[in-house]
Amino acid sequence: MKAILVASNRGPVSFTLSEDGSLSMRRGGGGLVSGLSAVARDMGALWVCAALSDGDRGAVRLAPGGRLDQAGYDTGALRMLDIPPATFHRAYNAVANSTLWFVHHLLYDTPNRPHFDARFRREWESYQAYNEAFAMALAEEAPHEARVMVQDYHLSLVPAMLRGERPDLRVAHFSHTPWAPPEYFALLPDDVAAELLEGILGSDHAGFLTERWGTAFMDCCRTVLGASVDPGARTVTHAGRTTRIGTHSLGVDGKALWARAGEPDVESHMAALRAQVGDRRLIVRIDRTELSKNIVRGLIAYREFLAAHPEWHGRVTHLAFAYPSRHDLPEYREYTAAVQRCAKEIEDEYATEDWDPLILNVDDDYPRSLAAYRLADVLLVNPIRDGMNLVAKEGPILSPGSALVLSREAGAAAELGEHALTVNPYDVSATAAALHEGLTMPEGERSRRGGLLAAAATALPPHRWFAEQLDALA
Ligand code: G6P
Repeated sequence: MKAILVASNRGPVSFTLSEDGSLSMRRGGGGLVSGLSAVARDMGALWVCAALSDGDRGAVRLAPGGRLDQAGYDTGALRMLDIPPATFHRAYNAVANSTLWFVHHLLYDTPNRPHFDARFRREWESYQAYNEAFAMALAEEAPHEARVMVQDYHLSLVPAMLRGERPDLRVAHFSHTPWAPPEYFALLPDDVAAELLEGILGSDHAGFLTERWGTAFMDCCRTVLGASVDPGARTVTHAGRTTRIGTHSLGVDGKALWARAGEPDVESHMAALRAQVGDRRLIVRIDRTELSKNIVRGLIAYREFLAAHPEWHGRVTHLAFAYPSRHDLPEYREYTAAVQRCAKEIEDEYATEDWDPLILNVDDDYPRSLAAYRLADVLLVNPIRDGMNLVAKEGPILSPGSALVLSREAGAAAELGEHALTVNPYDVSATAAALHEGLTMPEGERSRRGGLLAAAATALPPHRWFAEQLDALA
């Protein structure tokens, strides 16, 4: 069997440096990492990722050739790249998270932003250098004719760079985000837009979470590059090469999720939450505090629901878990503050001595999230736009009797929309009405839909999702 390499910005583990100079290791977070970790290890893939923190850099410097597994860590085969911090910061925070993420999630508040100036050019050069560092490391590590699975918008340029170095390799790229429509993608400077597309077209297979995002990518290739697109065969031909465009709707390993959610720490969180909320019905949301997750509109919808339905006062609680994310970016810090302000307004308006209408949790706690899933009556997932959204898939598995209120702009809506209460994420009133509908849906109907949702959510678990892409490279 040909060797497999995986490349992503964030790796399966991260390190923290404590004051006495010792390093402690923990598992990485986020959808990409949770989807890939078990798969990469089981397949014996070598994972190449970036050092993200001083702790990571400390660990890499002590590991021969950056190979953490060879330094005795239980990581699976892993090489971490020690990219100069300033270069990394510009590539990750400025280009990947403040530019590409914003473009693909339609987050810019035009007419004021974006503006691409001399500073952006320096940031873009760093993004190129950071991609180059990955391409060089992969070229160095990959055995002859290996298969290289490059992940996400951080590494868009890697496939073309790697092909230049190592034409023997089979290269796939996978986008875990949505892809912007051409008229929005065209906000980017022309040369940057072209280089991003040509970077991905350096792969043999470009994968997306839904057909919609893959089609948007093909539309961008046609309008920006003048590439020739075959929508039926789902191929893009440009500069004499053809890339296949695949749809692989990442799902959840239901068995593994249940195994984790049945552990004692989750059970004790369930007991604690029950003690806190009594027998009230629960509306649950679980997100990273991420601009695209639309948490503020979700809270306003809950407030509108309470205003319209006094009969629910005292009988329902909203558990809103909004975990910290990307706090290096000012927009994210401001958004976190906006979420907290909005939650406080709801508390001030509705809380009574013996009723908490809203419980907002802002620190990360995975077992507590699993407990909340298991207790949910209604799960609210209302992103402005989302590549897939695994919360929408995990919830129905752990709580098959709950109703799902789901944004039609989440990739998950392509598979789950039919059985969920689907909403336009900008329409706060429609979201409020859907919350009410979820709470009042007859139990039989909720569990009928819940069963269908859970079946759809487990249709393509990570191992099969990955295997499909390897097959596509054959
Ligand atoms: C989510 C997205 C991925 C992305 C990841 C990055 O999981 O679905 O597309 O790669 O976030 O998050 P980070 O915390 O590493 O910036």
